[in-house]
Amino acid sequence: MKNTILVTGGAGYIGSHTCIALHQAGYEIVVYDNLSNSSREAINRVSHLIDQPLTFIEGDIRDAKALRQVFDAHQFFGVIHFAGLKAVGESVAKPLLYYNNNVSGTITLLEVMAEYDVKNLVFSSSATVYGDPETLPIDETAPRSCTNPYGQSKLTVEHILEDLAVSDTSWSLISLRYFNPVGAHPSGQIGEDPNDIPNNLMPYISQVTVGKLEKLSIFGNDYPTVDGTGVRDFIHVTDLAQGHVSALNYLEQLTSSRSPSDMAKSVGFLPINLGTGKGTSVLELVNAFTEVTGRDIPYQFTGRRAGDIASCYASADKAKVLLGWYAKLSVAEMCADTWRWQSMNPNGY
Ligand code: NAD
Ligand code: UFG
Repeated sequence: MKNTILVTGGAGYIGSHTCIALHQAGYEIVVYDNLSNSSREAINRVSHLIDQPLTFIEGDIRDAKALRQVFDAHQFFGVIHFAGLKAVGESVAKPLLYYNNNVSGTITLLEVMAEYDVKNLVFSSSATVYGDPETLPIDETAPRSCTNPYGQSKLTVEHILEDLAVSDTSWSLISLRYFNPVGAHPSGQIGEDPNDIPNNLMPYISQVTVGKLEKLSIFGNDYPTVDGTGVRDFIHVTDLAQGHVSALNYLEQLTSSRSPSDMAKSVGFLPINLGTGKGTSVLELVNAFTEVTGRDIPYQFTGRRAGDIASCYASADKAKVLLGWYAKLSVAEMCADTWRWQSMNPNGY
């Protein structure tokens, strides 16, 4: 049996898939989530899929007292920190909520980790920290900037992690910058379950296909891209989940290194992109979904969405060289697994 990992936000979309990957890799898991954007049913289904009860504690990362109880009860090797709010539009309307939850919450978590001398963290960052990229593909040295409070909250946490690593070199703080996570577990049991009308492309496509929504609006067909529609680096959520296992394995190898020539036991602040390295346009994704499902997806072109950029895709080299990780699943598999989840669970959990 490997080390025990605290997974904040582990009931959510990416967290629930990562719990399965962590379990398969032999890790013990403790999930800590306030269920503000998820449900107990996700925990039940993960338990079913891993064939044993998942240890789940309902709690908020801003609650230091509750966190201390969790750290008192378990000896953690590290924390994977998914907990956060993620809706860009809502963050513009409610900036204080976003800074409080995502930034203050992370500070509280880091303070409790420091108290218990748990100094390995894998943080959920985002390609949004690159703003409108100057060059493509985007590597980890690209300049960072953000235009909305959600993005600012991710960038601010990255700055905090950088400062923390400078102040105390025993921290290992890996910031995984996700590109566009899509897809679902191949069982069709867990997947993305947006509360309202989806903001993101893939859940919108799948809800149109299942008949819950009438028509997809494609925001802009005049971008300087292959077909005029926006280009993104869509990555299957199970590949993304595996990236977290690789990050933890990397930290474990480092901390267990006995070689006298290699004294470094921590990585400081380490940003790593998790993407496929390939761009796919909105129209290409719609066509792939149509092909996989054999269903018609009505769509119309509308004006550009405020704040959108033309193209965004990762350089995935650093993850491959350092972690030995790369994305394996195709766009067709992303569509097939999304569709299985959506058609088996038309109303989500
Ligand atoms: P999600 O909303 O499905 O999962 C986040 C989980 O965190 C939810 O279960 C929610 O209940 C929990 N949570 C929120 N605030 C909390 C708090 N204060 N205390 C305890 N739990 C709390 O989102 P996701 O798509 O799984 O994203 C996970 C992380 O990855 C988030 O930090 C998100 O910002 C980041 N991210 C997501 C995407 C994406 O497109 N999905 C892209 C880049 C980065
Ligand atoms: N799009 C449409 N119609 C829709 C929804 C989206 O045409 O109904 C288009 C967008 O204009 C964009 C592309 O599909 O060109 C992807 O849009 P998403 O909203 O799915 O994803 P974004 O790249 O805009 O943003 C997502 C997350 C952010 C995160 C970013 C980078 O929403 O939180 O990826 O990881 F920061």
